Amino acid sequence: MLKIAPSILSCDFANLEAEVSAMRRAGADMIHIDVMDGHFVPNLSLGLPVVASLRKKTDVFLDVHLMISSPLSYAQKFVDAGANLVTFHVESESDVQQTIDAIKRTGSLCGLSVKPATPAEVVFPYLEQIDLVLVMTVEPGFGGQKFQPELCPKIWSIRQEIDRRGLSVDLEVDGGIDDQTVSQAAQAGANVFVAGSALFSQPDYRAAVENLRAHARKVSLF
Ligand code: DX5
Ligand code: ZN
Repeated sequence: MLKIAPSILSCDFANLEAEVSAMRRAGADMIHIDVMDGHFVPNLSLGLPVVASLRKKTDVFLDVHLMISSPLSYAQKFVDAGANLVTFHVESESDVQQTIDAIKRTGSLCGLSVKPATPAEVVFPYLEQIDLVLVMTVEPGFGGQKFQPELCPKIWSIRQEIDRRGLSVDLEVDGGIDDQTVSQAAQAGANVFVAGSALFSQPDYRAAVENLRAHARKVSLF
């Protein structure tokens, strides 16, 4: 299934509840929350209290993307705060297997993310255990960067491996996704599309979400 995940990194944080509700009404399938610790990436964003506050106001699916050095120490806390899906980076300092186990033990869905320079094969040993692979199509840390089309073969090789094994793992792309680049990512086999600046910069969220979905759908197999 093809899904659109607006990233609140580009929203008006002074009106977070309204922004999330508006995106939901606009047809977003989930809300993508970027957690940054100023160490794994050179930027700080938001953390547990924001996720917990949002959870009190909405039952929308919360897709939490941890860009932090020690995801193992925080996995349970983010699930307790209300995350439905916790995605962490293979490049973090935590042991990958232990972190997957910790997330799965909570009953939450688990995602594994790779930075642009990390080869696709790194996630292959874990595919049977996880619910989603997140391929970063920019260097993690900031919204508004340019999509890196040279990563499409990597997306494609993960899609092929998921399909070859008959798995239903979602394949999410994050970074520089807009009406143009979404087609390239969809063609490469992604089915979950994170978009921050391309959606929140638009005056009409419904039109923005629908356009993005339509562009993806045109070339997607999902
Ligand atoms: C970047 C974050 C992204 C970011 C995407 O490190 O993981 O989720 O919000 O922003 P855009 O869509 O503007 O590239
Ligand atoms: Zn993200």
